[in-house]
Amino acid sequence: MSVDLHKMELPPRPEMFDFHGVSMTHYFTDNWENVQNFQARPDDILIATYTKAGSTWISYILDLLYFAKTSPERQTTMPIYDRVPFLDMYIPSVFSGKDKVDGLSTSPRIYKTHFPVQFVPKSFWEQNCRIVYVARNPKDNAVSLFHFDRMNMIRPDPGDWNSYFRRFMEGKIVYGSWYDHVNGWWKKKQTFSNLHYMFYEDMVEDTEREINKLCSFLGLSISAEEKRQISGGVQFDNMKNNNMVNYSTIPVMDFKISPFMRKGKVGDWKNHFTVAQNEEFDEDYKKKMKDPSLQFRTEI
Ligand code: A3P
Repeated sequence: MSVDLHKMELPPRPEMFDFHGVSMTHYFTDNWENVQNFQARPDDILIATYTKAGSTWISYILDLLYFAKTSPERQTTMPIYDRVPFLDMYIPSVFSGKDKVDGLSTSPRIYKTHFPVQFVPKSFWEQNCRIVYVARNPKDNAVSLFHFDRMNMIRPDPGDWNSYFRRFMEGKIVYGSWYDHVNGWWKKKQTFSNLHYMFYEDMVEDTEREINKLCSFLGLSISAEEKRQISGGVQFDNMKNNNMVNYSTIPVMDFKISPFMRKGKVGDWKNHFTVAQNEEFDEDYKKKMKDPSLQFRTEI
């Protein structure tokens, strides 16, 4: 299938519907059978996140860790979404994430999903692939998603912040409930050891430390100098100014409404949540997040 998002005429924004108990749009369900039958390879690396938890950041880090030295031309010739394709996505006659992944010639292949854990094709578990999950605190995640939905024409219209805030708590968001997502993957980690669970806030706090942990998980021996270089290169401002990773080449996103690389901060939720919303959110959070071993930081 040809991949030309640039020639695509913008369709109306999609509707959300219930799909096996999860809110989805047709862009992530139209190719369902093919995606479910996807054949992973044992050395594949799958990045999994709830939408807007830092998937582009971790994609860039992994691409650099594996290919910065051996294929430096990737950095200037291939946008990040071609280096690390999005498995779930399908736009009829225009784009198939599964075909993109099948077409990767790298070893390992690195690609991403936003699926809740129960939607992940079974081949990943059978092949015991390495999976890197990134989670982000729900308040910043909700704010980031709200702005993403405003600017991305292939997402449902978010409406105003007040209604979005409520729908986020109810899980009526594409890919379903944040609470189910982060908990589902956390639970999986208890039984599937090839899963590295990371937090966006930790990455902001100390990127190099998190890259070190990632390298240990992946069994990569990379010099301290190289890690330092990668850690510097992937800082927010550098990524924001890099057209190969800032999504400025994707026409379905309207940067005049909001840029893809928006703020990159922990705590921006404070500029959006009212005091009453914050109290309501915290009450609801306590009811939904029962596992004391999974803790999020809303400020650092
Ligand atoms: P904000 O909207 O809060 O700025 P994803 O890549 O999963 O879509 O996530 C996007 C979010 O990650 C955006 O959050 C984006 O700015 C943030 N992000 C991307 N690269 C980052 C970096 N290097 N440092 C901090 N945040 C980053």
